[in-house]
Amino acid sequence: MEIQKEIKIGIYPGSFDPVTFGHLDIIERSAQVFDKLIVGVLINSAKKPLFSAEERVRMIQSLTSHLPNVEVNSFDGLLVDFAKQEKAKVIVRGLRAVTDFEYELQMAQTNRTMCPGLDTIFLTTDLRYAYLSSSIVREVASYNGKIDRFVSPEIVSLVKERCGRIRNKEEKKE
Ligand code: PNS
Repeated sequence: MEIQKEIKIGIYPGSFDPVTFGHLDIIERSAQVFDKLIVGVLINSAKKPLFSAEERVRMIQSLTSHLPNVEVNSFDGLLVDFAKQEKAKVIVRGLRAVTDFEYELQMAQTNRTMCPGLDTIFLTTDLRYAYLSSSIVREVASYNGKIDRFVSPEIVSLVKERCGRIRNKEEKKE
């Protein structure tokens, strides 16, 4: 009789607006822990993101094409429902500093209460990226600052182009 081994599926959810070196480091490291890692891009209709969910998915797909067990999908609604749909039992989150901890703990406990079979594991962010966030990248780029220490070269040009377009629109309004 053939015994079928259950494959270990993890989910790494986030807004990724845009994906940073910190995110990519967590993806690379967690891809080694699971048979399959799904990067879940929140569609997030409430906020107005810099990039659409499709654009964010494409960027991450392109930057993780060397990782055969990584799949990138977008989701709307509750993370626990997306995890069920993808048959994932574990959520991965990166922890940068204690300031992240309270929110992350609350989110992990809420998710586990709503879906008892679903655990959250935390990977500590690489020290090189401990300060880094997508919002910092957007902030620096919005003032035309250099962002090549924070995001991959492909993303640098896309963020610059998008922020430039927003600046032009705002200048025209004034
Ligand atoms: O990278 P982010 O923006 O910190 O990611 C936050 C994310 C996407 C993990 C979180 O907002 C989320 O899971 N949103 C989906 C809605 C949901 O399930 N909320 C309840 C969690 S307590």
